[in-house]
Amino acid sequence: IPEKITNICCIGAGYVGGPTMSVIAQKCLGVKVTVVDLNQGRIDAWNNEDLDKLPIFEPGLKEVVEVARGRNLFFTTDVDKAIDEAEMIFISVNTPTKTYGVGKGMAADLKYVELCARQIAKVSTSDKIVVEKSTLPVRTAEAIKTILKAEGNKVKFQILSNPEFLAEGTAITDLHYADRVLIGGDQDEEGQKAIQRLVDVYSHWVPKEKILTTNVWSSELSKLTANAFLAQRVSSINAISALCEETEADVDEIAKAIGADSRIGSKFLKSSVGFGGSCFQKDILNLVYIARSYGLDEVAEYWEQVIMLNDYQKRRFAEKIVKTLFNTVSGKKIAILGWAFKKDTNDTRESASIYVADYLLNEQAELYIYDPKVKEEQIYADLDCLNTRSEEENRELVHVIKDPYQAMDDSHAVAILTEWDEFKRYDWDKVYKSMKKPAFLFDGRNIIESNALVSIGFSTYNLGKAK
Ligand code: NAD
Ligand code: UGA
Repeated sequence: IPEKITNICCIGAGYVGGPTMSVIAQKCLGVKVTVVDLNQGRIDAWNNEDLDKLPIFEPGLKEVVEVARGRNLFFTTDVDKAIDEAEMIFISVNTPTKTYGVGKGMAADLKYVELCARQIAKVSTSDKIVVEKSTLPVRTAEAIKTILKAEGNKVKFQILSNPEFLAEGTAITDLHYADRVLIGGDQDEEGQKAIQRLVDVYSHWVPKEKILTTNVWSSELSKLTANAFLAQRVSSINAISALCEETEADVDEIAKAIGADSRIGSKFLKSSVGFGGSCFQKDILNLVYIARSYGLDEVAEYWEQVIMLNDYQKRRFAEKIVKTLFNTVSGKKIAILGWAFKKDTNDTRESASIYVADYLLNEQAELYIYDPKVKEEQIYADLDCLNTRSEEENRELVHVIKDPYQAMDDSHAVAILTEWDEFKRYDWDKVYKSMKKPAFLFDGRNIIESNALVSIGFSTYNLGKAK
């Protein structure tokens, strides 16, 4: 085990690898951090002189990159060199849901992680600490260890699990002020030394009491568990939103009332059109798959309900639109505000908007979509990916509009699907005047004061509020 870490390599320059390594480089002046990726376009974007063209949008990210890039932070496609030079290697590649073979649609696809392990084994000429940063099924470290050993060279490897808990849109704040950092490693002397090296890296800015160390398996399973608990809270409040609509209870009042109980806590109780993002669904499906593979069917079914409720919520919202518009949206112009899966990110993976849009398109609606950060080609790619209809049909029925007022002009209905702050500041009086009457507004995030809209003349639908 190296006595001191002076050179770090991170494989995977994505939403996790990019921001995490930028912050490590920012905070650890004596450490050279090299982020590598096979995707040349992505690396070029990370190296772009114009900091507004970094491959991902995250508040505060460009300021961190500006300070560290070229100083002790580097982005390159020269994977082998960076691996061999480093004492510590983070694996931060994607671990999507499998789309083929055994475990299709449920298990995590570990092929990218395995390729990394093989690459590390092949090119390493000195001892390394390999850190699992990607979210992985419990016991993956065992497989990585076997692969690393199999190459049969003299190099020694220690495997650590160090899951990432940042959320998109707040990545930099989450990294700067982490609630905790979790590091899992072997319980023997060498394992403990490896853990200490990573603790030393984080100690540059994370208070000691916030750095938790565990065995590898607890660390791996904590990550899946954390995401499952978070997603469960959203599904729980969304389940209650449906009941509120039948009973004249108000879901926001309920969230406030239950959130005041310190045992429950007030965060993550915002009712929505459904959670999205690349991880909640993927990680719960993975948890369900793992539970089932150990014969724990009751456990699997318990967590599966979180996903089923989320699908129900997306469908329920889309059905509501059709039903309210007199049971037909065929040929009607509907404006969709927001395509990202949450505000302050350009990420659209698993966004509820995709599924609501698809439902409305099946009903032959004409969609006019506006999002402040998502590019037109991304919106079409997300719809094409579903294979529900041809690419030509998607382009015929879907219009991506750069000006929100133009998107809403002459529409039958507006649906708010992402909670972007700017939506609250629109001139809703002006929008109302430009729309067809009755002017319907479906607020899938409960971000606009409904009474104000009603007094303008809108017919509004709010999640979890009386009909
Ligand atoms: P991503 O798809 O944005 O980035 C992964 C990158 O890895 C891609 O750029 C890809 O080209 C690269 N890559 C894949 N195989 C490679 C290889 N063999 N060599 C070099 N590069 C390779 O993914 P992400 O969102 O950063 O997620 C990465 C992991 O972190 C996942 O396991 C995810 O579950 C987890 N995670 C994500 C978030 C999040 O907010 N997105 C938060 C916490 C944890
Ligand atoms: C989530 C977790 O919050 C992170 O801790 C974790 O690291 C990450 O997943 C991951 O493993 O990828 P993220 O998906 O980026 O982060 O964003 P969240 O803020 O958790 O939001 C997820 C979804 O839930 C969004 O669609 C959001 O709109 C929705 N949500 C969240 C609600 O509908 N209501 C809420 O109260 C909170």
